[in-house]
Amino acid sequence: MDAAGGSGGVPGGTLALVPTMGALHEGHRSLIRLAREHADHVAVSVFVNPLQFAPGEDFSRYPRTFDTDLEICAAEGVGLVFAPAAGEMYLPDRQVGVCAGRMGTVVEGAFRPGHFDGVLTVVLKLFNLVRPDVAVFGQKDAQQLAMIRRMVADLDLPVTVLGAPTVREPDGLALSSRNRYLSEADRGTALALSAALREGARHGRPRDILGAARAVLDQAAVASPPLALDYVCLVDPATFTAVPDDHRGEAVLAVAAKVGSTRLIDNVVLTLGPS
Ligand code: PAF
Repeated sequence: MDAAGGSGGVPGGTLALVPTMGALHEGHRSLIRLAREHADHVAVSVFVNPLQFAPGEDFSRYPRTFDTDLEICAAEGVGLVFAPAAGEMYLPDRQVGVCAGRMGTVVEGAFRPGHFDGVLTVVLKLFNLVRPDVAVFGQKDAQQLAMIRRMVADLDLPVTVLGAPTVREPDGLALSSRNRYLSEADRGTALALSAALREGARHGRPRDILGAARAVLDQAAVASPPLALDYVCLVDPATFTAVPDDHRGEAVLAVAAKVGSTRLIDNVVLTLGPS
């Protein structure tokens, strides 16, 4: 159904939701702008979701910049900012959550066990609380976007999910709230993620794409500071399973690595062979 024909919770118009964990940047602004193109009203949620962080991850130090977030939302014409406290979102004796299934255990999920269960649980709760017609997520978190589309299909949720292109710095670094953890030297090494994607994208066959991307990442592994690679893979955009070497059509070239203490992800969607 066309987004404009939706029947969401706002009298006299349609509602788009942009779920975020705050620390808003230009990438979030682009999500909000896309949301405004597809609905009469835009809501932004700001909630650092404890469920999607494993012990030892950066939940406690995740940047919290609520006053600036509010200014950005006001400047972008957002009608509602929903910013619940953790205690308001989850009952202390919470029992039930969303299981991300097998797809939640591959690629990013293999390195962050339980992460997608936490993401899908909070996104489903946000959908139920805000009742949007449309929800907008960044392509930067490609597996998250695919999993949310899967949840909407599997659970028959009445919401249209839109993906927004990744916003990059002029030198290629994908915008992320976590970029503010990077020192200048870290940032230099971190450019290898987007450089690897660009090199991979110059090729047409999966093994050549992966070989070219790995060569860039191998060089960065001996840089100062070094890049510690978690994965680089070429996967089906809907299932996140590896594509075969004779694959034709869309594939996601995805990479995750740590630079210093900061873990970064990036990806690009490629179209292989005659489409
Ligand atoms: O992408 C994010 O910021 C988060 O994973 C989301 C979708 C807001 C859920 O907490």
